[in-house]
Amino acid sequence: MATVISAAGLARAFQTKHGPVEAVRGIDLTVREGEILGFLGPNGAGKTTTLRMLTTLLAPTGGAATVAGCDLATDAAGVRRACGYVAQSGGVDPQISVREELVTQGRLYRLTKDQAIARTAELARDLGLTELLDRRCGTLSGGQRRRLDIAMALTHRPKVLFLDEPTTGLDPASRADLWELIRRLRDEYGTTVFLTTHYLDEADALSDRLVIVDQGVVVAEGTPAKLKLEFAGSIDASLQDTFLAITGRSATPTDAAPVAV
Ligand SMILES: Nc1ncnc2c1ncn2[C@@H]1O[C@H](COP(=O)(O)OP(=O)(O)OP(=O)(O)O)[C@@H](O)[C@H]1O
Ligand SMILES: [Mg+2]
Repeated sequence: MATVISAAGLARAFQTKHGPVEAVRGIDLTVREGEILGFLGPNGAGKTTTLRMLTTLLAPTGGAATVAGCDLATDAAGVRRACGYVAQSGGVDPQISVREELVTQGRLYRLTKDQAIARTAELARDLGLTELLDRRCGTLSGGQRRRLDIAMALTHRPKVLFLDEPTTGLDPASRADLWELIRRLRDEYGTTVFLTTHYLDEADALSDRLVIVDQGVVVAEGTPAKLKLEFAGSIDASLQDTFLAITGRSATPTDAAPVAV
């Protein structure tokens, strides 16, 4: 399968009052077309920073990457055309309706008004939002909001969809719906999905392959079965134990040992 994302030594440092912070120290990875990649790591590992670089929202301070054959440094517009991005905390206007939000997004991607209306109907159908089109965004539940965030990111039929913790805070039924949607995007449209999550059952169920990062570098990479065998000694091991063996930490902040005060 063709490579759709390739990064070499991708790095980002931030200057802060307290000196430089090396959020991402040099990430090397490849993602193949039509793959669901689980991008895992403890809090502060550099996942969001990496996603923001790969979607051109943040300039790297080192290294290079291509997305859908477009170089981050020289063809940011091409990268943006190829990508959809759902941020860790989505940003929709609470006052306007779901329909207006989707039509506006279509117009931003230069669809004509008629095309934007048609695309809105299509996305609403695909994401189960049809009944909600005339609701104000501010009245949606967390799961409905997440579906709207994803609909907006799919407006221009991106080849690659970046999802930063898409299911955080969702109830089990909404999470299951999103899993089904993510699989459907891969199976029906050949969309490549680059996903971060702290839910390891989710990463295990959904991901064709995992890349685990810690302190800004890749520390392990492979199919869930390969990582379980390599780091926890058995393909029947849980991904929790595997993650703990790799990073020395639990992936789910709520599972972490209580901090002494
Ligand atoms: N704009 C910024 N200025 C300074 N430091 C930053 C900035 N953005 C991120 N960082 C730091 O970079 C590191 C990586 O942050 P990042 O948000 O990429 O982590 P993450 O893996 O997404 O974590 P989480 O699981 O908590 O979402 C953290 O130490 C963070 O505090
Ligand atoms: Mg993050």
